Amino acid sequence: MDSRFDKGDVMPVLSLRAHWFGLTSLVRQHIYLATVNPFHENGLSSAENPLANWTSSPRPTPWWHERYHKRLIKQVINLLTSLPCYLYEPFGGARNPVVLVTSGLGYVGSHVCIELLRKGYTILIVDDLTNSFGSVVQDIRLTLEASGLGNLPSRRLIHIPIDYGDPISLDRALVFYSRYLRVTGVIHLAASKSVAESLKNPWKYYENNVIKMERFLRVLGKHGIRNVVFSSSATAYGCLPSEMASKALNEDMVPIIGLDVDIKDTTAGLTPYGISKIFGEAMIKKFVDDHPRRRAVVFRLFNPVGSDPSSYLKENPRDYQWCVGGVMQMIKKAVVDDTVFQVFGGSGDGGDGSCIRDFVHVGDIARGFVMGFEDCLRADETKKRCKVYNLASGKGVSVKQLLKEVENESGAIVKIEDCQKRREGDVPISIGDMEKVRNDLGWRPEARLTDICKHFCRAYGIGKYAGEGSYSRN
Ligand SMILES: NC(=O)c1ccc[n+]([C@@H]2O[C@H](COP(=O)([O-])OP(=O)(O)OC[C@H]3O[C@@H](n4cnc5c(N)ncnc54)[C@H](O)[C@@H]3O)[C@@H](O)[C@H]2O)c1
Repeated sequence: MDSRFDKGDVMPVLSLRAHWFGLTSLVRQHIYLATVNPFHENGLSSAENPLANWTSSPRPTPWWHERYHKRLIKQVINLLTSLPCYLYEPFGGARNPVVLVTSGLGYVGSHVCIELLRKGYTILIVDDLTNSFGSVVQDIRLTLEASGLGNLPSRRLIHIPIDYGDPISLDRALVFYSRYLRVTGVIHLAASKSVAESLKNPWKYYENNVIKMERFLRVLGKHGIRNVVFSSSATAYGCLPSEMASKALNEDMVPIIGLDVDIKDTTAGLTPYGISKIFGEAMIKKFVDDHPRRRAVVFRLFNPVGSDPSSYLKENPRDYQWCVGGVMQMIKKAVVDDTVFQVFGGSGDGGDGSCIRDFVHVGDIARGFVMGFEDCLRADETKKRCKVYNLASGKGVSVKQLLKEVENESGAIVKIEDCQKRREGDVPISIGDMEKVRNDLGWRPEARLTDICKHFCRAYGIGKYAGEGSYSRN
């Protein structure tokens, strides 16, 4: 771990001294006032003093007595509530570098948290549970236990159930925790993510993914947080002209949004969700440009699938109506609820008529996020301060191939209906070029398609894995 982090340990000590100094000066004032104003001792303010009008000598004005007492009480409470932090600090609590993870209880976020905890970070999760459940905190602990890391101390994983775009609550939380933790950076994943929902309700996406992000970045700037990893999406590429679409998408291909682009036009492929991610990337770029010591890594995710091998963590959206549109959720629904899986058309680009996607195990994605975060911390003046990478495998797999693999792995039969037509917002082919991320960060996906399907089937208890995993707990 970087030795620079150790400097953060002086913060709690300085903060404790500040508390102590404030408290002692207030007590001194209290003693002074008690001697200057004799009625103070009897609990009488000057206003209630029957002799106040009889004497010609001016007495200290009473109006600020109340405020002064309130301050004293606040200082005492502050000191008492922060004592546990000072007590555990010598045992290593505040020594771990702290990362703020927005959406840490969501599908990708929870896996990122696991990876961070395994690497020794302390995490502050900001998640308002709009699309996840509070029980994921427990699932993260169980996953760590299952991987042999033992009991996680509660101080290493803190969940703050607030909206990341609520500047007042976020500011308060950061002020409170910065008393004993020094946040070294942010992994920002919180967003609304359904392409279909974004076409129905674009304002929700512009608000949650763009407007709130602007407020969020302002709070980060105010608190001097300089390192940001942002989760973007392959939807930012839109749907490129057919001559380019069959190639793997590289990082320079994001289209420039013209005012004449009709976002309902599925051939343009620019959905409000994709546009919100392009704006998010632009804001991250501006955030970095505004200060010479800020750094950011933007990851464009293609299709994160699978789950942690322990099966405690998996995609479990609260907003089921919209999130069920993801391919894995559709497969799960078809098997568990015994319904028909609708295979939408991809204009035959993949040979079997279904869409082609770049599937990457969510554990690999999480590893990539932590590598990106550590790259931000390695301040290298010769390198670009805002980098954009695809987290992709570079290999296309058709939806029908994926279905076959799930069937082979689980022994379950998935009933399919060939719809032929393309679903609104879908692009026929989406494969990411991974050269840049491999050369710069040394990241490459490790899990094969069979591993992905195995972990997915085990997590949801599909086919031969029925009764295993944690699906039955929800
Ligand atoms: N899963 C995918 O297929 C995929 C693909 C490409 C990009 N991404 C991006 O990755 C990120 C994470 O995706 P995911 O699949 O884990 O999503 P998810 O829906 O599982 O998790 C999102 C989490 O963010 C929280 N959240 C949403 N709005 C919030 C707000 N305003 N304040 C606080 N918390 C809020 C939700 O409660 C939820 O826990 C998103 O930015 C998404 O756009 C996901």
